Amino acid sequence: MATDNLTGLPPPVDVVIMAAGKGTRMMSSLPKVLHRLAGLPLMSHVLQTARSLQARNTVVVTGHGADAVEAALGGPGAHPGLQFARQMPQLGTGHAVQQAIPLLADDGVVLVLSGDVPLIQADTLRALVAACAGQRLALLTIHFADPTGYGRVLRTGNAVQAIVEHKDASDAQRAVTEIYSGIMAAPARALKGWLARLDNRNAQGEFYLTDVVRMAVSDGLEVVAHTIADPLQVAGINSPAQLAELERAHQMRIAQSLMERGVRLQDPARLDVRGKLECGSDVEIDVNCVFEGRVHLADGVKIGANCVISNCVIERGAVIQPFTHIDGEKAGVTVGENARVGPFARLRPGAQLGADVHIGNFVEVKNATLAAGAKANHLAYLGDASVGERVNFGAGSITANYDGVNKHRTVIKADAQVGSNCVLVAPVTVGAGGTIGGGSTITKDTPAGALTVARGKQVSVAGWKRPVKKPQP
Ligand code: UD1
Ligand code: MG
Repeated sequence: MATDNLTGLPPPVDVVIMAAGKGTRMMSSLPKVLHRLAGLPLMSHVLQTARSLQARNTVVVTGHGADAVEAALGGPGAHPGLQFARQMPQLGTGHAVQQAIPLLADDGVVLVLSGDVPLIQADTLRALVAACAGQRLALLTIHFADPTGYGRVLRTGNAVQAIVEHKDASDAQRAVTEIYSGIMAAPARALKGWLARLDNRNAQGEFYLTDVVRMAVSDGLEVVAHTIADPLQVAGINSPAQLAELERAHQMRIAQSLMERGVRLQDPARLDVRGKLECGSDVEIDVNCVFEGRVHLADGVKIGANCVISNCVIERGAVIQPFTHIDGEKAGVTVGENARVGPFARLRPGAQLGADVHIGNFVEVKNATLAAGAKANHLAYLGDASVGERVNFGAGSITANYDGVNKHRTVIKADAQVGSNCVLVAPVTVGAGGTIGGGSTITKDTPAGALTVARGKQVSVAGWKRPVKKPQP
């Protein structure tokens, strides 16, 4: 590999990501590169990959929906070296890269990526940069049985001579199955010279980046193709159908890699991971589950069908029954060892369940700690609460945590039993081992060990006669 004369290191890499195109075929007001694959904007996949290369600078070329795209990526400096260049109007891929030129130093290798090709892998890009070696033009290519629409790689013998766009190609050229992926690596100084010489005399009246290949050849610079076999890495998104197809293919790969690590999926075709899912051994996941953000499932965890689980840690042996929604957002959710949650349960940010806790159907828990062995099995709300060990929280009972302005905390000490249909008006504390009679509205702290009842006394009126209907006149 060519090295910098002074430092002996390979030249630094600067990435240009083209993301100014309209994406007409998405038929959407959302810029194409902000449509989501596996829960993340297309553009963010590319940016993450670029970051993992430790590029010196990354310039995103925006145009259509530029404000929205730049805001979605956090604006300039959101990561070290992230910059934006505007392309207005959009006159082609060559014109797009021209906009980034003022931000690029002469001494590096420029790696050109597309914001709508989300699954390109860092290893592939490293190999492409190595093929460029600071002194060659390196093109990422692939063979497609049906190359319709793509730029074709033209060779004489083995030597790459040019890329011809489908619309400009002759029938003989269209028969070529090796296509250009839209991704290249080039020495910055040479690339700048070629871009300055581009014209738009072609079938689409655009400034084609691909015309730099002919220029490199005529300058006597070597052009190399790095050819890969994996079509998903270079799949571009142009329509909702392509987006859905790539989503399924990507999800199937995620499912396969989970199964390779021993996760038992009831059906790999019915799993959606939109973030990072880590699993211990002997994890079982039933059909139609969605995992978002960071989710950790420890050894022996079982997830029932139709659960949506986001930003959460589920400890060893816990069972999440069908139709449960867990969303930790920023505060996170923890489900303790051997706990049982669901069916139809809802755990919200800050729910911290200890070992052996049971949360049953139609129970909502938010910003609440339940110590080991606590149970709320039916139709309950525990919000802003600290619940002690072995507490039993009855059906239909709630913590009234909100006075219309502020949130207050409810403390239920260990071994307390809260009957059915109680309202605990916070701030309030239920004493250890105490019992709250069903139907009570508790507004004052209750003593440990006592039975507290706060409801109208039951009365019976002997011989009571119900009113009778008056006869109609
Ligand atoms: C391009 C290549 C083609 C290759 C194909 C692979 C050119 C001329 N052709 O064609 O050889 O086979 O990709 O998918 O480069 N963009 C801008 N500004 C513009 C135009 C495009 O930023 O003015 C961006 C788009 O948003 C997109 C990328 O560049 O992210 C590629 O543009 P697109 O129009 O899809 O190029 P293709 O015609 O597919
Ligand atoms: Mg395209």
